[in-house]
Amino acid sequence: MPTAKVRKAVFPAAGLGTRFLPATKAQPKEMLPLVDKPIIQYGVEEAIQSGITNIIMVTGRGKSAIEDHFDVSFELEHLLETRKKKELLALVRQVSDLINIAYTRQKEARGLGHAVLCARELVGGEPFATVLADDVIDAETPCIRQLLDIYEFFSAPVLAVMEVPPESISAYGCIDAEPVSHNGSKNKVYRIRDLVEKPKASEAPSNLAIIGRYILTPDIFDSIDKVEAGAGGEIQLTDALKYQLRSRPIYAFKFDGKRYDAGDKLGFLKATVEFAMRRHDLGGPFREYLKGLKL
Ligand code: G1P
Repeated sequence: MPTAKVRKAVFPAAGLGTRFLPATKAQPKEMLPLVDKPIIQYGVEEAIQSGITNIIMVTGRGKSAIEDHFDVSFELEHLLETRKKKELLALVRQVSDLINIAYTRQKEARGLGHAVLCARELVGGEPFATVLADDVIDAETPCIRQLLDIYEFFSAPVLAVMEVPPESISAYGCIDAEPVSHNGSKNKVYRIRDLVEKPKASEAPSNLAIIGRYILTPDIFDSIDKVEAGAGGEIQLTDALKYQLRSRPIYAFKFDGKRYDAGDKLGFLKATVEFAMRRHDLGGPFREYLKGLKL
């Protein structure tokens, strides 16, 4: 049977953003701008550039700014039109023209696994990508596309991973895995033996951390249904993947590219500086400004 094509991407976006208070008290963390674009738009653009055609956002209370952002803003467009602000108008229209987005709600913050489960009806019986927008990934080939290539080859779920310093592993899901040769390289693809969410540094099976990009198959929903609350008292996607491992192989891919943890204040600042430096309209003067700082 040919591997089913991945058309849909689920964006869990119901989290409370506590790492970014007070900025996230009345505003979704997904809408914090990196330079001039909300964090979540980077993820949406990555999905589109990877060939995804349907987006499903799992939101919650206080997240309506996300829906408004990707919707047509009639008043704003009208104003820009009458003021003949053509470039701004194009920029604003570009966002609502990006892609059709379906929304569903996670009524209680019960964890990432539970958020993904909320998308079950909208996903249906097909494989899908999952994108954690906090993880902004700058890569020549979009990270989701890289994972899809592995998924299409192995016909199995694939998680993005990266090596992190051992003392940081407790902030992530961690995999125990054996390398698999693929396309002439021996240390990019791994077959997963076990997974653990947020292990203590002393108990982590490796320094390979799960990063927020997954290609999942629809049987994950049954696995999520089966698992009990885990780390932090939440239904964890990592635990559901561990459960799923009983019935099918799962792979991990050490993607090419740079990942920023934009849900964290320091990570957000790093991303802001680096993205601003790369912009052709801002990069030059911004770099000059940075050089002039007495560091
Ligand atoms: C989630 C996942 C974790 C993963 C991380 C990547 O954790 O549960 O396995 O390593 O995203 O960013 P969170 O950061 O939401 O606590």
